[in-house]
Amino acid sequence: MKIGAGRVVPPFRVMDVARAANERAAKLKPGEPKILRMEVGQPGTGLPHEAKLAVQAALQSGDALGYTEALGRPTLRARIARHMEDWYGVETTAARIAVSFGASGAFSLAFLASFEAGDRVALAAPYYPPYVNTLTALGMHPVVLPCGLETGFQPTIEMLDALPEKPQGLILASPANPTGSMLAPAELQALCRYCDENGIRLISDEIYHGLTYGKPQASAAQFSASAVVVNSFSKYFSMTGWRVGWMVLPEDLVRVTERLAQNMFICPPHIAQIAAEAAFACRDELEANRATYQAARGVLMAGLAAAGFARFAPPDGAFYIYADVTGRAADSVAFCDQLLATRNIAATPGLDFDAERGGRFVRFSYCAALADIEDAVARLKQPS
Ligand SMILES: Cc1ncc(COP(=O)(O)O)c(C=O)c1O
Repeated sequence: MKIGAGRVVPPFRVMDVARAANERAAKLKPGEPKILRMEVGQPGTGLPHEAKLAVQAALQSGDALGYTEALGRPTLRARIARHMEDWYGVETTAARIAVSFGASGAFSLAFLASFEAGDRVALAAPYYPPYVNTLTALGMHPVVLPCGLETGFQPTIEMLDALPEKPQGLILASPANPTGSMLAPAELQALCRYCDENGIRLISDEIYHGLTYGKPQASAAQFSASAVVVNSFSKYFSMTGWRVGWMVLPEDLVRVTERLAQNMFICPPHIAQIAAEAAFACRDELEANRATYQAARGVLMAGLAAAGFARFAPPDGAFYIYADVTGRAADSVAFCDQLLATRNIAATPGLDFDAERGGRFVRFSYCAALADIEDAVARLKQPS
């Protein structure tokens, strides 16, 4: 039988590593050290307290919790619009907010609303793999801009100008996964202006906003009315498995996105939307989570350097370190296999994030419990 267009889509390797780590954890003998999970970007902190209470109340209320409107519960959309005002001073309306099935669900909606098969969409490498893999699955062409330390792993206007043809789209991520690098607000503003002047639809992934360690964060919504802003409750709000994200949409994409969402998803999960709305009331708890990541960041940076992995850029945000492991292993896939087999540490090979240069890099996530990060550092320091 024929296999469809999905056959060309590469794996999201981090999920393969997570499966291997689960399999190994299931086979651990009593007394063996546990697997330290540094492969996925999954906050070790749980559902925020107010969200838990709201979920319990909703379950007890006897409400049917049926479908919501395709773009989400009106109260949640209004609360997100208020968040845009509170955090960035951006005045927007609930009508421009689309609640989605995580940021992941937002990407397919945003890409289909903004582009069509054959369109070129530029993005920096290293990148979050589903950008490239989802565009590819949809018949769109990722235009990869190799970025390094000199530009903070972020794309520049010069790189876009140097392309033989203007792309139809640009994806930005600040803070970025896997490097944690951020664009300065003025750089983001300049890229927004460039996109507007050149008819390039900007998709700005802001999922790691709130998880920054000193540098100022800005939203593309501050600088462009035609950009699509993508965000999620997975990271700062510590709600990965609840699968709720959101977009701030330009006026011209609201109805097309709504039609796509109606057909592709009907609606995001109702109970999770209730949890998400309540999570906004947990600022102190979420800031305490952020402080834990900041402490883990310090422990891991010092520990990696002491263990002989000194080649990485200090992350400005998110909860990852993207380290160059040249000289430690033939390639990063072999290196990660070896880390799991010999030290019970799960980490993600860079090939997931950069097909050309990723063989030299490993991404370590530091959002697990602080004690686990300390343990990981001790294990990495042990001689092989
Ligand atoms: C940069 C980036 N964007 C989007 C996502 C997807 O998040 P969600 O859980 O909201 O689908 C992730 C998840 O790790 C991510 O790192």
